[in-house]
Amino acid sequence: MKQDMIVILDLGSEENARLAREIRALGVYSEIHPHDITLEELKALPGVKGVILNGGPNRVVDGVEIDVSRDIYNYEAPVLLADHKGDKPWPADDAERKTALSNFVFGVCGAEANWNMDNFIADQVELIRQQVGDKKVLLALSGGVDSSVVAALLIKAIGKQLTCVHVNHGLLRKGEPEQVVKVFRDEMDANLVYVDAVDRFLDKLSGVADPEQKRKLIGAEFIRVFEEEARKLCGIQFLGQGTIYPDIIESGTKTVKAVKSHHNVGGLPEDLDFALVEPLKMLFKDEVRACGKALGLPDAMVYRQPFPGPGLGVRCLGAITRDRLEAVRESDAILREEFARNGLEGKVWQYFTAIPDIKSVGVRDNRRADEWCVIIRAVNTVDAMTATVENVPFELLQHITGRITAEVKGVNRVLFDLTPKPTGTIEWE
Ligand code: XMP
Repeated sequence: MKQDMIVILDLGSEENARLAREIRALGVYSEIHPHDITLEELKALPGVKGVILNGGPNRVVDGVEIDVSRDIYNYEAPVLLADHKGDKPWPADDAERKTALSNFVFGVCGAEANWNMDNFIADQVELIRQQVGDKKVLLALSGGVDSSVVAALLIKAIGKQLTCVHVNHGLLRKGEPEQVVKVFRDEMDANLVYVDAVDRFLDKLSGVADPEQKRKLIGAEFIRVFEEEARKLCGIQFLGQGTIYPDIIESGTKTVKAVKSHHNVGGLPEDLDFALVEPLKMLFKDEVRACGKALGLPDAMVYRQPFPGPGLGVRCLGAITRDRLEAVRESDAILREEFARNGLEGKVWQYFTAIPDIKSVGVRDNRRADEWCVIIRAVNTVDAMTATVENVPFELLQHITGRITAEVKGVNRVLFDLTPKPTGTIEWE
């Protein structure tokens, strides 16, 4: 293995993720593991130069104070009892923390600052090959950042032993399914099964207006389509997943209760019993992007703005119709093009159009015409829990309005959503 590693054992501190990031910022790879890891499991981890036991307010679980097994204390590499009882907090001041950490990581453990993407990729390639052997891996490739990066990493490690399944449910943005095929099949020579499920999804969604029902239906149908494809392919033993570290934090560790349950491709029937390959599960989002860049993925894929799983399905408000779906897709493409052209692409956290189920009267070709309207939303946020509206230049909004009303069939008005979250959510449904 090319990288040294500092292991943090989770004894209920809420700052473990911060600590791991700080160690990585020193140039040393760090992973967080559960407190009940066995000595054998710890010894099996590659490149461990030191261990930090980090206690905190969640140390008492169901009335019992949790602890690591006694023999961990006798581990061959240095073990630091940081805030072991939850009463000795790490220095709050950044400079002091950095010095304390550097002293332990470099001075006591003798770790080398060799954490970088090339070494990470080289190590993961080796680990994936060890895990998978000559068996086959299946991956649901949505074209989102995480699934794209995990696909690129698996292709590098095991090439055609990986089969990627891309389900086009008709709710992706303009050009996205084509980009997945171009990048993975044409450029990376991957085994890619492209499933055109557009009619199937839109038929199922026909007449369904309730947002939660739409979300459930899209999720359930996705699993059904993926399952059908999985059954057609023989001899698959592993399922690749783009799980990343924040997904694991949100799903809850043994000491911290779940914020929300996380499923990438949950809900597959039990007879499709795959072992998981999750090589990104210890990376934070910015590191996943850096990994994607290092693997040669295009910027448009790596720096893609967040996009909801149900896609345009929750931006075509109410019961989805094909004409409005097309109008929201086309207007979104114009918005994205204009934001990119005007330097807003990397600056605004999330921007898109939504189309309500409302027609209003207008004038087209000197005649009164009832047509749809679209809403532009552009917001900034840190954690998506609250959001502020981007101050988009008025002239740019006017220009985009001109383009949308001229180029998008059936749309005669454009509105700009001025509402922060709260009271509005980011999406409209
Ligand atoms: P809201 O609308 O709740 O959105 O303010 C917060 C963030 O979550 C995204 N979002 C979703 N993502 N499935 C997803 O994967 C969903 O059903 C969903 N709904 C909202 C939204 O785009 C924003 O980034």
